[in-house]
Amino acid sequence: MTVSTRYQLRRANLDDLAEIVSWPQTPTELRYLFPRASWPAEPLKLLEHLAGHDEGFVVCDAGRVLGFASLYNPKQQGRAWIGHLIVHPQARRMGIARYLVTALTTVAAECYRSSEMATICFAHNQGAYDFYSKLGFRNEGWETRSDHLGEPLKVYRLSKAI
Ligand SMILES: CC(C)(COP(=O)(O)OP(=O)(O)OC[C@H]1O[C@@H](n2cnc3c(N)ncnc32)[C@H](O)[C@@H]1OP(=O)(O)O)[C@@H](O)C(=O)NCCC(=O)NCCS
Repeated sequence: MTVSTRYQLRRANLDDLAEIVSWPQTPTELRYLFPRASWPAEPLKLLEHLAGHDEGFVVCDAGRVLGFASLYNPKQQGRAWIGHLIVHPQARRMGIARYLVTALTTVAAECYRSSEMATICFAHNQGAYDFYSKLGFRNEGWETRSDHLGEPLKVYRLSKAI
């Protein structure tokens, strides 16, 4: 697997988050990232939610922010979790998410001695499911989460040994 070296990883700041919350294109896509969010999105609420997570990272290309993900619970049972993965709508299928997940795997292994990466993926988010499968994540099983109306949503738990 080749990973592009033209991208850079850095920690997200508040300006980044303010931009990233405008990326979800549809109500469905918004809920892939924020299951309890209502449409149209309320940027301040989303920003507050993202800022409340420990570690947000962005991928930049020539200074332009093109991807985002959170890394959380990295010390829990040696397992680091990826959340809120999103790529700018005009920059998809350019290897940005692959670069980001690969880079976060290095951060988890080197900074937290994690031995596994994991994430939650909505059962009907086929694009994200295919993406994680391509990177070697395996389906561990499913569980339910609540959406903004309190309705149950089926999600898969995906994981990969580092
Ligand atoms: C899912 C997502 C993060 C992928 O980001 P990306 O930067 O476009 O992915 P990459 O370019 O790194 O893709 C790497 C490989 O994953 C697979 N892949 C990525 N997106 C895919 C899609 N929509 N359908 C099928 N396979 C896909 C492909 O094999 C791809 O390699 P290829 O382009 O050489 O065929 C992006 O589509 C996105 O932001 N979606 C909306 C938010 C979302 O659903 N987040 C995930 C929450 S679990």
